[in-house]
Parts: sequence; structure tokens; C-alpha cells
Amino acid sequence: MRLALMASVAAAGLLTNAPASKAAGDLNLICSADVVICEMMQQMFEKDTGIKVNMVRLSSGETYAKVRAEARNPKTDIWWAGTGDPHLQAASEGLTQEYKSPHLDELQDWAKKQAESSGYKTVGVYAGALGWGYNTDLFKQKNYKEPKCWADLLHPSLKGEIQMANPNSSGTAYTALASLVQIMGEDKAFDYLKQLNANVSQYTKSGSAPVKAAARGETGLGIVFMHDAVAQTVEGFPVKSIAPCEGTGYEIGSMSIIKGARNLDNAKKWYDWALTAQVQSHMKDAKSFQLPSNKTAEVPKESPRFEDIKLIDYDFKTYGDPTERKKLLERWDKEIGANAN
Ligand code: F6P
Repeated sequence: MRLALMASVAAAGLLTNAPASKAAGDLNLICSADVVICEMMQQMFEKDTGIKVNMVRLSSGETYAKVRAEARNPKTDIWWAGTGDPHLQAASEGLTQEYKSPHLDELQDWAKKQAESSGYKTVGVYAGALGWGYNTDLFKQKNYKEPKCWADLLHPSLKGEIQMANPNSSGTAYTALASLVQIMGEDKAFDYLKQLNANVSQYTKSGSAPVKAAARGETGLGIVFMHDAVAQTVEGFPVKSIAPCEGTGYEIGSMSIIKGARNLDNAKKWYDWALTAQVQSHMKDAKSFQLPSNKTAEVPKESPRFEDIKLIDYDFKTYGDPTERKKLLERWDKEIGANAN
């Protein structure tokens, strides 16, 4: 996979046709997507601009916590990817920097709205719906029924067969928590999560880890973004992805410049570059099947399409609000995390 990536990075460099001009300073990047796309983006940007990128991969909630902890002395210039809610939370706490990219008008409405609603302190880079992926071989062997609805995940036969991430560290799991609250109401959603807890063997740190475990037969099913389940299927694993029958939430994966960034010019360069159709069209080369935010970027044929999924009208303003996110996470810790298996 890495070798194939290097080839596509080389091709991408040629395609973007940008001479490698040496720019001053480095770029300190936190990347909250899958490590393979993070490395590809890093290499493509270095090749296109000559700017050295120091990259760390952290989950969305972990990044928010780090950016907050470093607010007085920021060590990060740009935060690319990860679910939108913690980016919005950082924006409303003044941890990120306002910036209007000249590429804004090339973006889908949902991506532009993310920028407008935050006072241009974050912007949408991709979108994807929440669901799950299950191991079809394992389900067949054990004679389990295909779970089509959130309610089916509570079936006692699935005891110990489900993994999801911890919503404190993972934006995926926070999207799951906030989606269930929006679908069922808060108290019913917590009742549901308590019952689900009986079937969950592990709450992982990263959002896509559960379906990677399901792909390898270490667990039966992972609650993840559907594009992360599709990535496992494309890798050749016996994974089927499901969009829950009751409806589901989605993410607007986002990007923000950190307030006080030491390499602000380079951060803006990354920001503009990452919004181009040319760069976003390469995401599929790293088996990243989110829907790109640039209207003219190529939508991979494997990407789960919003038209085929029953989506809720996810309230990003409310669930990206610091008070609401903090409240839900504290309740999750008390009622679910403290009683995890
Ligand atoms: O693996 C890619 C991805 O699902 C992105 O679409 C998403 O923004 C990110 O991971 C969330 O990761 P985490 O749940 O670890 O914060």
C-alpha cells in the first residue's frame, strides 16, 4: 500500500505541475484522518511546495484537547481532517484563526456553511455518513442475522461482538453519540447505549479501529463511518457496510488554522492547497472514500452516496457547541465509560 502510495504521490506531483520552491520555515500539522491519507497528503504537499511538514496523527477529540492545552504556546500550525464538531468547538473557543480561502466558492454548500457558521475559523474538507461494517464470514459461521437497524445491534447474540470508539478521543464515536441523541432524544439514547454496552467488547481510541478489527475477524462488527467500512472491503476483507434503517448522522470533516500559528503563511498555503479539486481527487489513492468538499473533485465510485442513505438533519451548531459536547461526554463517562467491559 505504501509503495503504491509513493507512486501516486509522484504522479500527483507531476499533475499539480507546481515547481518545488523552497519556502521559509516548516509546517506543523496535526492530521485526524487515517494515517495512510495523512502520509500521502504530507508527501504531496512537500513535493508541490518544498515546505517540510512535521505531521502527527491524532484522533479528533485528542487533537481538540491538545490544541486547547497548548493555546498559550501553540505548537501546531494547521489541523487537517477529523470530524467537524471538535473543530467547531475549537472555533467557538477562539482556538483557531479566521481565514477566507480564495477557493471557498469552489466548495459544496455544506463545506461553505461550516466556514460561515464558524466566522471562517474552520472549513469543510469532506463529508461521510455514519453506519457500521460487519464481517460477513464471521456472521455466516456464527449464524447471526444481518443487523440493518440500530435496534438490531442490541440483540443478545451479538454479546462481545461489537466495537466502537470512545467519544472523548474519537470524533467518529462522538458523531455516533450525538446522532443517537438526535434520533432518539437524550435519555432514550443513553438507555440505548447502556444496553449496547452489554454487546461492546472494547471502546477504541481511534474511530476507524473497530472496523479494522472486524475485517480481521477480531470482532464481528464496528460502528464507524461507512467510508471506513468500504475501505476494508476494497482492501479485500469480507466486510459489508450498512446504513442504519432508522436514519443516521454524518460528519463534515474539517480543517482549521491554529490561532497563533508560528508558520502562518505555510498554514495558509496548506489550507488553499487542500481545498483544490486536484488534491481532493487524490484521496481515493489512499483508499479514503469520503465525499470531497470541492465541487469539481472526483467522487470515488466506491464512496457511499448521501442519496442512498437515510440521513438526519444533523444539528452541527448544537452538537459542536462546547457546552453541549462537554455535557454529553461527561454523561457518557459516568453512565457508559465507567461501566465498560
Ligand atoms: O478514517 C477516516 C475518518 O473516519 C475521517 O472520515 C474522520 O474525520 C476521522 O477518521 C475521525 O477519526 P477519529 O474518530 O479517530 O477522530
